[in-house]
Order: sequence, then structure tokens, then C-alpha cells
Amino acid sequence: MTILELKNVKKVYETKNVTTEALNEINFSVKKGEFISIMGESGAGKTTLLNIIATLDKATAGTVLLNGQDITALQDKEISKFRRKELGFVFQDFNLLDQFSNKDNIFLPLVLSEIEPTDMKLRLEKLQSSLGIEEILEKYPYEVSGGQKQRVAIARAAITGPSLLLADEPTGALDSAASEAILNLFNKINEKGQTVLMVTHSLRASSYAKRVLFIKDGIVYHEIYRGENESRGEFMERINQAQFMLNRGDK
Ligand SMILES: Nc1ncnc2c1ncn2[C@@H]1O[C@H](COP(=O)(O)OP(=O)(O)OP(=O)(O)O)[C@@H](O)[C@H]1O
Ligand SMILES: [Mg+2]
Repeated sequence: MTILELKNVKKVYETKNVTTEALNEINFSVKKGEFISIMGESGAGKTTLLNIIATLDKATAGTVLLNGQDITALQDKEISKFRRKELGFVFQDFNLLDQFSNKDNIFLPLVLSEIEPTDMKLRLEKLQSSLGIEEILEKYPYEVSGGQKQRVAIARAAITGPSLLLADEPTGALDSAASEAILNLFNKINEKGQTVLMVTHSLRASSYAKRVLFIKDGIVYHEIYRGENESRGEFMERINQAQFMLNRGDK
């Protein structure tokens, strides 16, 4: 089942005297249960693309269908409700609110959706042990490590059971051990059925995905799938080679 479909998505930024074509013609689709990484060099348009899918920014042209609904046609007043219902976000810099405990940060999207407190607790109980956050729920974001903050952010993103979990460089602010733990978590929640779309320039992060798309010159230039019996190391090597060829201009 297709969850997300992008057709001829274009994004042009017009500033005072500079026009930047960030995305030219992006086409791809995502099936339920996939774990996709989108790679590209700095400035390739990864964040732009994610923001458009996240309804945080509007495409200049093209359509984005999420569960068959064209999100580019949503009215402003429908957008926030749609976003809360369908999407979860994980950012490089966590975006937790320091005035709330970690637990209340996780509950925030449920509070906004007017979910009953007993239901909130049940949902958290289901998530907390696999995310390894039981010990830090009563603490505040400024009292825990970066890796722990990102676990809380993942819990906040996953607790609504979104159609799609979006992540922009989720390990960009973490050291390698914390990164590995976070990527293993993405794997775990993906194995439970959560569809994940991550953008990153990290080879290592991408090797955790099942499919890698490469964007360059505003289009999806190439894609590779992880083989059924392929190890993560082997996949990383193939991603590396593909990226090398791409940077040389080959396909
Ligand atoms: N708000 C904006 N106004 C004008 N130009 C922008 C804006 N945001 C991004 N751009 C430009 O669009 C292009 C794509 O930017 P984007 O942030 O999507 O790249 P990226 O692939 O996420 O890069 P990085 O890996 O460095 O995060 C760049 O040339 C950038 O300068
Ligand atoms: Mg970016």
C-alpha cells in the first residue's frame, strides 16, 4: 500500500535578488512499512523536501499525496490538525520544550489532540521500555544527555501512531555511540510497522534504512535497496560507491 507519493515536486526560493531552485522535479513513492533514507550533499534540498512533506513549507509546483490526500491543497486551518494526525517529526536538535518534563513533552501531541489521560498513559507504557526512557520520564530535557533527548523526541513523534515518521539528520548532534543507539531504535520501531523517512548526509545512518534515495540537481538521481541477506556493512559500502559515482557525475 502506498502511503506517500510525490509527483513533479518543485521548489523555487525567491529572495530579494536571488532565485534558488532547490527542487526541480522530485518523483518517488513510499509504501507502508518502508524505512527510507534520502541522501544528498549539503544544499541538495533534503531539508526543503522534508519540510514540504511535513506541510511546514509549500511546494512551488507538483503534488504530494499522503494516504491519497493532496497535502499541497490543504487549507491553512486544516494543516495543523492534519499534521498532528498523520505525521511525527524528529529533528537534529531535538526541539524539546525545557519547561516541560520529558514525559509531558511526549504527551504534548496527545494533549493537543485531546486524547484521554488514561489512554496517554497506556500508549506511553507500550513505548517506554523499547525506547529505554523509563528512568528519565520525570526529568527535564536539560537534565539528560543528547542521546536521551533524542529518545524522548522519538517517543513524542511515535506516540500518536503517525502514518509517517519524518526525521531530519536525527543523529547530526550525537556522537557515534549515541547515533548507533538512535538508529537501532528507528529500526526497532520500523520493524513494528512504523513507516520512516529520514534525510541525512551520513552513510552510516543511511545503512540502517532499507532503501536509499539520492537527490542531486533537484531530482531523485538514483536509488538502491538493501538486499535481503545483505549486512549493514555491505550495504554501507554500496551506498558509498553509489555516492562516489554520483559525485563524479555517473549514474
Ligand atoms: N528559506 C530559504 N530561502 C532561500 N533559499 C533557501 C531557503 N532554504 C533553503 N534554501 C536554499 O535551497 C537549497 C537547498 O537547501 P536545503 O536546506 O534543503 O539543503 P540540505 O540538503 O538540507 O542541506 P544540508 O545538508 O546542509 O542540511 C540551498 O541552496 C539553500 O541555500
Ligand atoms: Mg538540511
